[in-house]
Amino acid sequence: MLSFTDLFVTSLLAAAGLGSALPPRIGTTVINQDQSSFLNGRTTLKQVRNPRPHKAFNGARATYRTYLKHGVPAPEYIKTAIAHIDNEQEEAIARIKRDTGSAAAVPINEVDIAYVTPVTVGTPPQTLMLDLDTGSSDLWVFSSLTPSSQVRGQEIYSPAKSSTSKLLSGHTWSIRYGDGSGSRGTVYTDNFTIGGLEVESQAVQTAQEVSSSFTQEQSLDGLVGLGFSTLNTVRPSSQLTFFDNARPKLDEEVFTADLKYHATGSYDFGFIDRAKYTGNITYTPVQQSPGYWTHSLSGYAVGSGAFQSTQIQGISDTGTTLLYLPTAIVTAYYRQVQGAQNSQYYGGYVFPCSSTLPTFTFGIEGARFTIPASYINYTRISPTSSTCYGGLQSSSGLGINIFGDVALKAAFVVFSGTNPPRIGFGTKPLAS
Ligand SMILES: *[C@@H]1O[C@H](CO)[C@@H](O)[C@H](O)[C@H]1NC(C)=O
Ligand SMILES: *[C@@H]1O[C@H](CO)[C@@H](O)[C@H](O)[C@H]1NC(C)=O
Ligand SMILES: *[C@@H]1O[C@H](CO)[C@@H](O)[C@H](O)[C@H]1NC(C)=O
Repeated sequence: MLSFTDLFVTSLLAAAGLGSALPPRIGTTVINQDQSSFLNGRTTLKQVRNPRPHKAFNGARATYRTYLKHGVPAPEYIKTAIAHIDNEQEEAIARIKRDTGSAAAVPINEVDIAYVTPVTVGTPPQTLMLDLDTGSSDLWVFSSLTPSSQVRGQEIYSPAKSSTSKLLSGHTWSIRYGDGSGSRGTVYTDNFTIGGLEVESQAVQTAQEVSSSFTQEQSLDGLVGLGFSTLNTVRPSSQLTFFDNARPKLDEEVFTADLKYHATGSYDFGFIDRAKYTGNITYTPVQQSPGYWTHSLSGYAVGSGAFQSTQIQGISDTGTTLLYLPTAIVTAYYRQVQGAQNSQYYGGYVFPCSSTLPTFTFGIEGARFTIPASYINYTRISPTSSTCYGGLQSSSGLGINIFGDVALKAAFVVFSGTNPPRIGFGTKPLAS
């Protein structure tokens, strides 16, 4: 069962070979989502190994990781909620195994925990699966310097096996998380490629220590930070992100995210693919300080209710799974869901899986984007539980609203590195 989205990489030329309407242009790159075309025998596409196994999904863990990422200590009840959900999942899986005698029958929910994208580092190329994360600005990887006790199935980058790696002497990096743990290490520069777009001297931050939450996440070999370079943690001199390094080669100073519900999506660098949205893109200004893609929503609506005009400032973060908004909005939403409650036990808003959920609409300037109800039904607590964990949660403990994947999946999103920067949202057909 594929719980992770696997993305297939190709150059734009390869995409054109697949019937894309776009003419090939220098410096443009597409990470193509068309897995079926690949399976139809195209050899120009780079095949990606199957996603590795990972822990059954746990909504409280997604919320916990969001606290960690933003350097906020997670409340104790969220930690115990993770254990409650893990236990329920183990019990349910044990029951199913007894019933059927086959582990393959376990209906592990297919959920969009994170989107991983294949990249290559070094000469000859070493392939890693990284999370493209607009909510951070470090490009760090599991490496030959990471103690083996902290590596559990991840692929690693070995600078010694690359003829183009160079130690960036005297430079280190360190990211502290909300639980006091952290990731840190040294820095190399090396060739780095995403979908045929190559940067020849990209700072690749090699981990000498990774926090346990990353060790547990077998499917991720590291992150590609796509926030602004001001957030980069390399010292004494901070390093540019992949996007900033690639920028001079790009036709347009943009990258786009077309994330999909329970399916393979795509990131494009250097162009805006007209085939991926309808109508016009609506742009809104981005406040670049301290380095997130910070912008405002112009309001919201619950289901078919009236649109409430109100400025909601937050960050568009492809590296966060769920949508975190002010408590008043979240309670207004779950008031429309029979039996919903903010559960300390499960670490967030949950509801009976049999309830009916409304959609959630957000505004970008005058445009409206509707998140289908199914996206907000994040996952069943366990395969046999009748309780479901919400994809919309309160941001009150985080101190920041986060427009994570639950919201970003509902649009075609343009991250525009123009001066001043801006972010654009386009309408696209949504599967639910
Ligand atoms: C890496 O960059 C060098 C130039 O620094 C180039 O000659 C070489 O072909 C590149 N390697 C790969 C695998 O692209
Ligand atoms: C898109 O923008 C163009 C130019 O501003 C305008 O003429 C057109 O009516 C817009 N289309 C839609 C669907 O809003
Ligand atoms: C939520 O999703 C589960 C599958 O994960 C499904 O069985 C259930 O009916 C859904 N509930 C709602 C309210 O959409």
